Amino acid sequence: MVTLATCFRTGFGEVTLSRHSRTNSRKEQNLRPWDAADELLLAHLAEQMPAPGKRFLIVNDQYGALTVALTTASPGYPIHFATDSFLSQQAARRNLAGNDLSDASISWHTSLDNIEGEMDYLLIKLPRSLALLEDQLYRYRQVCTPNTRVIAAGMVKYMPAGVFKLLEKILGHTQTSLAKKKARLIFCAPDLSDKTGTSPYPISYRLENTDYQIDNHANVFSRDSLDIGTRFFLANLPILEAHIEPGQAGEINIADLGCGNGIVGLMAAQRCPNAKIDFYDESFMALASAKSNFYRAFPDRSARFIIDDCMSSAAAGHYQVILCNPPFHQQNVVGDFVAQLMFRDAKKALRQGGELWVIGNRHLGYFNSLKRLFGNCLVVAANNKFAVLKASRHP
Ligand SMILES: C[S@@+](CC[C@H](N)C(=O)[O-])C[C@H]1O[C@@H](n2cnc3c(N)ncnc32)[C@H](O)[C@@H]1O
Repeated sequence: MVTLATCFRTGFGEVTLSRHSRTNSRKEQNLRPWDAADELLLAHLAEQMPAPGKRFLIVNDQYGALTVALTTASPGYPIHFATDSFLSQQAARRNLAGNDLSDASISWHTSLDNIEGEMDYLLIKLPRSLALLEDQLYRYRQVCTPNTRVIAAGMVKYMPAGVFKLLEKILGHTQTSLAKKKARLIFCAPDLSDKTGTSPYPISYRLENTDYQIDNHANVFSRDSLDIGTRFFLANLPILEAHIEPGQAGEINIADLGCGNGIVGLMAAQRCPNAKIDFYDESFMALASAKSNFYRAFPDRSARFIIDDCMSSAAAGHYQVILCNPPFHQQNVVGDFVAQLMFRDAKKALRQGGELWVIGNRHLGYFNSLKRLFGNCLVVAANNKFAVLKASRHP
């Protein structure tokens, strides 16, 4: 892990922050673990200097910049931290530790937890996905009173259109500040007297050519319909029975890496009745969706749903087959660095002779990366947009 700690000066004190990068990507490692929207939001709060004891709910704080800064304040604030990202939760904990701050004073929540009590401040770093924001506003409306100060912050170029309308519709009167260093704050005064409605998520669709109903929480990849890349992957899955070793009673260990709603693992389970499937993702909503979809389809089978950074926690040499449709970005940073990390973790987790199957856009260059890492790579299937690749682990 690369820990490039950078000094972050705020109105609440000076802290050091790191991205705690596991990737080999210099581009990713060198990015700052905060942005101008964090600076703007903290400067605004420091001007007001909330009284000690004011309760904060901080949402989508990617590396914990807001949480760490507000925790340095003395005598401090009760803070609730909510995120859909396991990586963000880990980064915030590590950055607290890096500043000798205890994480025991923070209440940690996943994106699916019910948060109770009334908050004085609801701070939202705007996610790229309007669906996730919509779900969060409905979910966190219950901690708002007319006195709660709701402040949403984001970089103008990443702000999804419709943020303003959504805040108005779900919470109340909304106004924006002028943009500074390409960041903007949006202020909302909750008035819940005439607000009705609930989050439309999770939403469902039926997986084509099957009877499987697929649930999708708000932050799940391709939540409205089957992604065209995933469709191509499903049409070209490996013949899993070929990997069953003699004397194994038909058992085979398979991982769905970056599972999203779990469709890929689900179809592997359908084809291989004795397969043991492990689903990995860093999104709490993805894993919850995968779990609900798997148990609805196979109420009598069991599977594991593992929150992880790629598959860093997997036992070495455990899997015969790993299936992976990698992400092409991590939050706002676009690139193949997560895919590369997934390939490295997958290689360790495969048995000798085990195979990693990957679907990717043809232009992404996964073929060369896999060939370099495994010493072999085969194009199993390709169309004008996607390729399904296979790399085998040999001694
Ligand atoms: C392109 S989607 C594929 C989803 C699903 N397998 C499919 O084919 O429809 C990539 C998935 O990788 C997950 N992901 C992103 N970064 C990750 C990481 N560092 N560790 C584990 N999963 C990650 C995302 O949350 C997302 O669900």
